[in-house]
Amino acid sequence: MKLKSARLLGIETSCDETAAAVVENGREILSNVVATQIDLHTKYGGVFPEVASRQHIRTIYPVIDEALQKANLGLADIDAIAVTRGPGLAGSLVVGMNAAKGLALGRQLPLIGVNHLEGHIYSAWLYPADTPKPPPPPEFPQLALLVSGGHSELNLVQDHLQYQRLGGTLDDAAGEAFDKVARMLRLPYPGGPAIQKAAREGNPQAFPFPRSRLENTWNFSFSGLKTAVLREVRALEEENRSLPVPNLAASFQEAVVSVLFEKTMKAARDYAVKSILVAGGVSANEALRKTFTSQTEFPVHIPPLSLCTDNAAMIASAGYYHFCLGHVDPLDLDVLPNWPLS
Ligand code: KG4
Ligand code: ZN
Repeated sequence: MKLKSARLLGIETSCDETAAAVVENGREILSNVVATQIDLHTKYGGVFPEVASRQHIRTIYPVIDEALQKANLGLADIDAIAVTRGPGLAGSLVVGMNAAKGLALGRQLPLIGVNHLEGHIYSAWLYPADTPKPPPPPEFPQLALLVSGGHSELNLVQDHLQYQRLGGTLDDAAGEAFDKVARMLRLPYPGGPAIQKAAREGNPQAFPFPRSRLENTWNFSFSGLKTAVLREVRALEEENRSLPVPNLAASFQEAVVSVLFEKTMKAARDYAVKSILVAGGVSANEALRKTFTSQTEFPVHIPPLSLCTDNAAMIASAGYYHFCLGHVDPLDLDVLPNWPLS
């Protein structure tokens, strides 16, 4: 791919974060603004779609303004606009998409619709503007494990923007399992960080929860594990015993991480990749990060914590590589709430 010199404004509103960022040449973050709505959704125990859309409407333009201001740039300095087209909540995606279209039309800028999962992959390409020696980009072919609230999948990435889906979850996404188990343990939303915190005080071997390995496929399943935790919680409650939350959290987390790790390693070896990439909200998990970075012979790329969860810098980065290939979308571009990566 012939790389061009370009500054992209990225916009992301697929779920409950309103985000905008300016990224230079696909990798250098000039600004990265995320307005989270977590406080608004906590009382519902999860994302309330209509509340999310309405909040995006209120915050989208202030967030875009802030991203431009922090980069010390105006729209005249931007070469293209990348926006999340899907997957995500339709009502949320539409807000970012319409904001992007308005700016693209008003400024005659190319509009590029980006797949949110592709954005998570490109979060591994990013580095802050003041980095003295930029890190080399992840090498192809690579194995990408995407683990977020909505997805858990393994993709073989042969080159820029070339994805081959090997497998994915048959039921809950990894992040969804964290969120549901957190609710069982009476921990707040989002469940991932809450389980991680509780697990620090717990013994990961306390409960031998099942690991669904689904041999000879690249698929995952977390519903059996989730049910096993529920059964344990109910049994303890029937006996009027208080829940050993740290031990339950640590044992659950260990089961998720070990299944994700074992399958990713097997695929990495079978496909003889040059690097492993782990991205998506669950890649913020400290147990997962430790396992993936200390127990493998492959170079492992996991984005810094600030780029693991939803942000717009990753959308600008993925959009840049489309821009270099000359991909431009029309202004009647629709959102795709169920858009697969490959
Ligand atoms: O990528 P993301 O921000 O949004 C989606 O695209 O879904 O991922 C959100 C998910 C939530 O399920 C959240 O519980 C999980 O990522 N998560 C974590 C951690 N931080 C966020 N899961 C485990 N450990 C964490 N530290
Ligand atoms: Zn995400």
